[in-house]
Amino acid sequence: MSIRRSKTKVLVDGGDPQETVRVKGLIGFVDGQTTNPTLIARNPEVRQLISSGHKFSTKEELDEYKKIVQAISPLVGDAGVSIEVFADFDTTAEQMLAQSRDMFAWIPNAYVKYPCTHEGLRAAQMSVREGIRVNMTLCFSQEQAAAVYASTKGSTDPVYVSPFLGRLDDRGEDGMDLVRNIKKMYEAGDGHVHVLAASVRTLNHLLGAFALQAELATAPSKVWEEWAAGSVHCQKRILCTKGQTSSATS
Ligand code: E4P
Repeated sequence: MSIRRSKTKVLVDGGDPQETVRVKGLIGFVDGQTTNPTLIARNPEVRQLISSGHKFSTKEELDEYKKIVQAISPLVGDAGVSIEVFADFDTTAEQMLAQSRDMFAWIPNAYVKYPCTHEGLRAAQMSVREGIRVNMTLCFSQEQAAAVYASTKGSTDPVYVSPFLGRLDDRGEDGMDLVRNIKKMYEAGDGHVHVLAASVRTLNHLLGAFALQAELATAPSKVWEEWAAGSVHCQKRILCTKGQTSSATS
């Protein structure tokens, strides 16, 4: 049974193509995927190499990231695959841009992830001018979302901003409030920035993102599995109530 689409696009947060295949099998479709270096390090093949004592050079890390992203790319729809640049406090916008030019060429449906920092925003501004699609990650405040809007104005492709629900909740704030406030703030805008609910840890986060009509939501496979199980149960109940045969529901 394929689950009815909500307005919110479905993205898998992970670094294992097999997981994406599994979620796709459960839901019937996957619109996109978000990755980051931590998720890539959890990929089963990568873990096996690490546990056998293999030490990755920087080039090998990137090659592995590219290989995994290339396997995921054809599995997902038009929300693309987000690939994160390696950045710390000292990384300049120019250094991020150099990485992103390379990463953007890995697959036809890439979004490059930059942090919502001063340098990340500068990198995003330069990127959209070159036609590189961007996902602004690690968004913890409405001010950061406003800065994303201003620095990417004029982008011909949708720009993603990723408020981090789970991490805000972890520090005693309400991540869902941030999604609500950003959506409200963008109502007056031109619609070029799409809200991607991220750091989703629970089914409630997901349902909240749907209710607020976030354009996209990314969640680990276990949360999608939970959602799919609940949705199939609901749809079967609705179809059964309408008097359809059980064979029509499976
Ligand atoms: C998505 O783009 C993020 O990488 C992801 O949701 C991070 O969330 P977490 O590290 O808080 O789990």
